[in-house]
Amino acid sequence: MDLSPALAGKYITVGVTGGIAVFKVAQLVSNLKARGADLHVIMTRSAQEFVRPLTFQVLSGRPVYTGLFEHSSHYNVLHVDVATQSDLVVVVPATANVLGKVAGGIADDLLTTVIMAAACPVLFCPAMNVNMYNNPVVRRNIDDLRGLGYHFVEPGVGRLACGAQGRGRLADLEVILENITRLATPAGNLRGLTVMVTAGPTIEPIDPVRYLTNRSTGKMGYAVAEAAAGKGAKVILISGPSVLTPPRGVDIVRVETALQMFNVVMERFPETDIVVKTAAVADYRPKDVARQKIKKKGDTLSLEFTRNPDILAELGRNKTRQILVGFAAETEDLERNARQKVVRKNMDFLVANDVTQSGAGFGADTNIVKFVFPDGTIKPLPLMDKLTLAHRILDNALLLFNKKG
Ligand code: PMT
Repeated sequence: MDLSPALAGKYITVGVTGGIAVFKVAQLVSNLKARGADLHVIMTRSAQEFVRPLTFQVLSGRPVYTGLFEHSSHYNVLHVDVATQSDLVVVVPATANVLGKVAGGIADDLLTTVIMAAACPVLFCPAMNVNMYNNPVVRRNIDDLRGLGYHFVEPGVGRLACGAQGRGRLADLEVILENITRLATPAGNLRGLTVMVTAGPTIEPIDPVRYLTNRSTGKMGYAVAEAAAGKGAKVILISGPSVLTPPRGVDIVRVETALQMFNVVMERFPETDIVVKTAAVADYRPKDVARQKIKKKGDTLSLEFTRNPDILAELGRNKTRQILVGFAAETEDLERNARQKVVRKNMDFLVANDVTQSGAGFGADTNIVKFVFPDGTIKPLPLMDKLTLAHRILDNALLLFNKKG
């Protein structure tokens, strides 16, 4: 785990609520301290049933706040004092209760009052029983809060403290630490650069009412576009059909077929610095599109297909200063296939996901990937939400862009 002093001088408020994952937060606070953060811990009443404030007092090196009516050091109003000084408020673990309160506008203790008064980013790290996490009310609250600009680290999947199996475990501490660092130190490090992202599936018409497509939802690509915009880049998002709302501030170009995507990508390529190709592009399209709906006749139907252009390979042949990042959706021999693809398409690196793994690939909110480089080096990453992964991809692309000069 990277414990460099990246958070030196950053005022981080850690809100601890009452869930069994509290015991993991002790390690997180210790790691944040090692990163140089100026830590201020607030514990709710139920959190104190699990762990005594003394634990966090020792680890953070400061008194722990437990009540709304404590005095702040300067006799200001405590919640306003903490809220205005914070560079980030992180709520970990975030219970269904605290999410519900904030989503409902309730501020009846110190933590929820600080959240209400905060002008800085607020990051929730939910951890709870799988059924609670899947409860439509909790899902709605999370969606509402995301829509209002609150940040989330998706919980992991596995065996939960209550014995149940499923999503609800507190996310990996490394992933939480990375999100905290990113939000508390908004780098804007892609300012001045143009990032082109392709996302979603393509659809290939068969006749006026039918088409061929794949399972891509656009989640991965939209996350890359959101991360790039957050880092200050000008973003061109070329999207196949998707129900997702494009991130704010991106230049969205909607396409349907691989040929349309090819044309737009090639046209915009000269103005871009970094290209991330998450789109799942159809390799073939029906050779002839029937002008009328095909009627059923015999027991079988044969269609003839023709090759679509390989957009990424074409970019690889034409790239000058650009950094090219491809994706590979694999179901077998991931490393061997990815090593071949990264070289064949002249990418700078490739993000390979085994789409048969739970929590990875099509439609999931998380992904499990390996970065594969042209020299054959492979860097595996743990399960993380797609937005965190998007930031990792862009950080790596920027590193290579700067190296290329
Ligand atoms: O959208 P989500 O539901 O979030 O799902 C994410 C994802 C699974 C689609 C994503 O993580 C992913 O793996 N995207 C790449 C899928 C894919 O098409 O892989 P591929 O191995 O077939 O293609 C390799 C690369 O070449 C890709 O970058 C692809 O965009 C590109 N390609 C492929 C074919 C083609 N004709 N032109 C291309 O540019």
